[in-house]
Amino acid sequence: MGITVKDNLFYISSKDSSLILENRQGDLLLKHLGKRITSYHFSNTVFEKDHAFSGNPSPEIRTYSYDTQRQVVGSYGFGDFRHPSIRVQHQTNELTQFKLVDFDIIDGIVEAQGLPSPHSGEKAETLVLVLEDSVAKLTLRLYYTAFEDTSTITTFATLKNWSDEEVVIHRLLSTMLDLPAKKYDVLTLQGAYAREKTVRRQALQQGTFSISSNRGASGHGQTPALILTDNHATEDSGESIALQLLYSGNFQAFAQENQLKEVRLGIGINDDNFAWELKAEEIFVTPVAMMTYSDQGLTGLTEESQKFVQNHIIPQKYSQKERPVLINNWEATYFDFNQKKLVELADEASQLGLELFVLDDGWFGNRFDDNRALGDWTVNEEKLGGSLSALISEVHDRGMQFGLWVEPEMISEDSELYQAHPDWAIQTPERSHTYSRNQLMLNLANPKVVAYLKETFHDLLTKNPIDYIKWDYNRNMTNVGNGDTYLETQMQSHAYMLGFYELVDYLTRQHPNVLFESCSGGGGRNDLGAMRYFPQVWASDNTDAIARLPIQYGSSYLYPTISMGAHVSASPNHQMCRVTPFQTRGHVAMMGNLGYELDLTKLTEEEKTLVSEQVALYKKIRPLVQFGKQYRLINPEQGSNEAAVQFVYDNQTVVTYVRIQSTIETIETTLKLKGLETETLYRLEGTELVYSGAELMYAGLTLDMPSGDYLSRQFYFVKQS
Ligand code: DGJ
Repeated sequence: MGITVKDNLFYISSKDSSLILENRQGDLLLKHLGKRITSYHFSNTVFEKDHAFSGNPSPEIRTYSYDTQRQVVGSYGFGDFRHPSIRVQHQTNELTQFKLVDFDIIDGIVEAQGLPSPHSGEKAETLVLVLEDSVAKLTLRLYYTAFEDTSTITTFATLKNWSDEEVVIHRLLSTMLDLPAKKYDVLTLQGAYAREKTVRRQALQQGTFSISSNRGASGHGQTPALILTDNHATEDSGESIALQLLYSGNFQAFAQENQLKEVRLGIGINDDNFAWELKAEEIFVTPVAMMTYSDQGLTGLTEESQKFVQNHIIPQKYSQKERPVLINNWEATYFDFNQKKLVELADEASQLGLELFVLDDGWFGNRFDDNRALGDWTVNEEKLGGSLSALISEVHDRGMQFGLWVEPEMISEDSELYQAHPDWAIQTPERSHTYSRNQLMLNLANPKVVAYLKETFHDLLTKNPIDYIKWDYNRNMTNVGNGDTYLETQMQSHAYMLGFYELVDYLTRQHPNVLFESCSGGGGRNDLGAMRYFPQVWASDNTDAIARLPIQYGSSYLYPTISMGAHVSASPNHQMCRVTPFQTRGHVAMMGNLGYELDLTKLTEEEKTLVSEQVALYKKIRPLVQFGKQYRLINPEQGSNEAAVQFVYDNQTVVTYVRIQSTIETIETTLKLKGLETETLYRLEGTELVYSGAELMYAGLTLDMPSGDYLSRQFYFVKQS
């Protein structure tokens, strides 16, 4: 494990993966990315030929050209005709040719300053490659960190200007990787508001497949991640590589197949509406990218990515901490609540065994609907029937933790804050605002705004014993134009992200005992940049159990279940108007961090019994769901009428199966479980039935389903003692 340097070769090796780079007279060439290799002798080297219409940096060597070499930086403008990793405006042009001049090996990780960086965990080592362009007078540093406990390698870049003149960065990817020709599929997690993270898989062909966001956030429609997989890879076999970005702002990711069928991958900040002015001696830092490799199919890739996120990205204090079962009052009351209603809800919740009471939107200022008051973070004591601390005591007295909703990055025109600081909103001079949910965004690129938010929310958390914060973000960035110059405006959306990370880094450090959940109308900012500070994310505003199946399924490809909030809500469901059985709603929500978001006081006695049974069972299976290995048994997408997911942990397993529509005259489905010990006997909880792991995996479990739509089954097996 770690970094080794031998014969002009750099080996960056994590547990089961290696990235091998060659230093060819200063050019950095990618020799291998994949399964771990400790000794490499060029067996896969591209035969160098005189390719028609290729450029040669040397007149003597007609067989060496940049468009046929696999690279990680690329020289822009010298004949590498693929998408570049870097474009910098200096002197009169954008050409760059970076040559390796030095390297260093550092114990542990190096943080990307001001940006979310992973924790090093047990053991990590970082290779720093120093490249220079002596004409442009720029130094590019590439950081690659190898980890002992995972097959993930992380990387980022910095660019320093050592000329006397300022230069302008128009593009600087976090990483670029050239891979050999092969038949690949590209897999991305896409969707829209209320149907986030659905899996899209397609064959890569000559040309470029790309995804991006220019919303100022990663957005509901796309995830800053791209999986490149063998075209025949399945859940259980085949090689794949996942490229992910620890960044919540405008991003781009692409896979380009060139005319020689070689593939270039890239991920980083979106060029769109972006430029960065780099004055003499200044340094620009890119967000961190993560590359995860597995040859164990998509399940193997999932395991590696989920483990890395859980152990190295989520705040360490929460990576192994079970999440409380919560009640959230949003879909129970929306804005229409008072102290009496909240206490009744808390009473019921505590009697049913719930552990955390969350007060959602509407507790502050004049916030009676979503048209006003964002920015006025003073408690509406009339509505709460007293102080916030008094309400918190009521909840704590009932043995539950207390959580609060906030939306710090926003401002309503109808607010005291806007009256005082209209210039704090993101806006363009002489242009009218663009409204979304009738709100504007605060300009976190302005240090004064960040300082104000730090103070306001530090104060709120210091004065009130709050255990959990739901940090919402309900619109995207438009009218970006607060800068005094064109370049300042081009820098604004990334400067906003730096301000955002400074703010959340400060608050989460100051209040380490508060569990922060990120939300953006559900999963509008469900990315690794957010997860570095927010150990969990509200995956979607869509709480319909059936609509949730593909969202949760897609999310599982890369993100650990412990990061995903999942709630049981009312039927008919408020988003889909669908009527589903209470049991199915519970089973689906139990595949994430279970919560309830409905008026518990209005449930029938039978439903209340179901809630307390679900909560009691969830407390038993919680370690499996939150720390276990996940297997996707049946994909709920592409016309499937079924979904099935299994978790295995510590000689226990839980399987959840949902059949969407009723069927008639068909043979029941038999589910083959995975990941069990063949000779171990497992008892089905609540029965005397005992099966061997081999039987459950190789013969399978036949599901006896009655007629009816939206029915589910859950099987919890424990090793027989
Ligand atoms: C959007 C969130 O996704 C909801 O859960 C809720 O918190 C509302 N905002 C409140 O305004």
